[in-house]
Amino acid sequence: MQTPRRVEHQQTDRGYVPVYATGVVEQPWDNYTATDHQVWNILYERQRALLSAYACPEFLEGVERFGLGDGGIPRFDHLNQVLAEATGWQLVAVEGLLPDEVFFDHLANRRFPVSWWIRKMDQLDYLSEPDLFHDLFGHVPLLLNPVFADYMQAYGRGGMKAHAIGPEALMNLTRLYWYTVEFGLIRTDAGLRIYGAGIVSSKGESIYSIDSPAPNRIGFELARVMQTRYRIDTYQQTYFVIDSFEQLFDATGPDFTPLYAELATRPVHAAGDVLEGDKVYQRGTREGWATGGDN
Ligand code: PHE
Ligand code: CO
Repeated sequence: MQTPRRVEHQQTDRGYVPVYATGVVEQPWDNYTATDHQVWNILYERQRALLSAYACPEFLEGVERFGLGDGGIPRFDHLNQVLAEATGWQLVAVEGLLPDEVFFDHLANRRFPVSWWIRKMDQLDYLSEPDLFHDLFGHVPLLLNPVFADYMQAYGRGGMKAHAIGPEALMNLTRLYWYTVEFGLIRTDAGLRIYGAGIVSSKGESIYSIDSPAPNRIGFELARVMQTRYRIDTYQQTYFVIDSFEQLFDATGPDFTPLYAELATRPVHAAGDVLEGDKVYQRGTREGWATGGDN
């Protein structure tokens, strides 16, 4: 495999992160090595076996429809045929993390940027920036779900707006992305399930987010999410739980401009805080909300 073109490091809201060349590239599929394909296969098999009991049905359906387990790193042009027909989204290959405005512009136009390079064999369990496995396996299956697909596009448009308003608004919006697209949980008939890409692409956090009694699991509330800081270097201390993708889409439909103004007057909460009025899922079980208490 070639090496990704890293341009510089930059201090951002999310800490000190590498910033890459911003252009779209051709997926260099012929240059993947046998080891690259093997890394995909190992990660795929491991997550697919685990996630039957942990991921939401919409995610699992997407994985099957794309044939992500057909063996080896999938070809973006094949996935794009499926996507075009289903929801009109397209994958574009990129070098890695993009500046906010570039990223928002892609989403607003129903293009999802996917890092073309995959992690090394000694990085199976953790790596500090998104690679092909995270971007593709984590994010792309839900782009086949019409409601989630529309949410992602709306997020891109909202991002351009927030960017124009200022850094605080952008931080509020980034937290929404973090706690939904990356680390969201959803209630289903089968109990609590994962839909967030940052979780489904991590074996450890898949188990932790659902089964561990340690983290808070709080019912989704837009303002609450936007006021909650997050950590990028540990498993989450708090997950926000939606009831459905429709709930998420509807709750984020209204113009955020007045909300940003109001939030600027309110305190920000630490990642691990539980507040009065939070609807809390109390135990690490997949069975449902705790009864008793005032939930
Ligand atoms: N309604 C939001 C706004 O006015 C746009 C948005 C939709 C943002 C969905 C995020 C997710 O900014
Ligand atoms: Co991601």
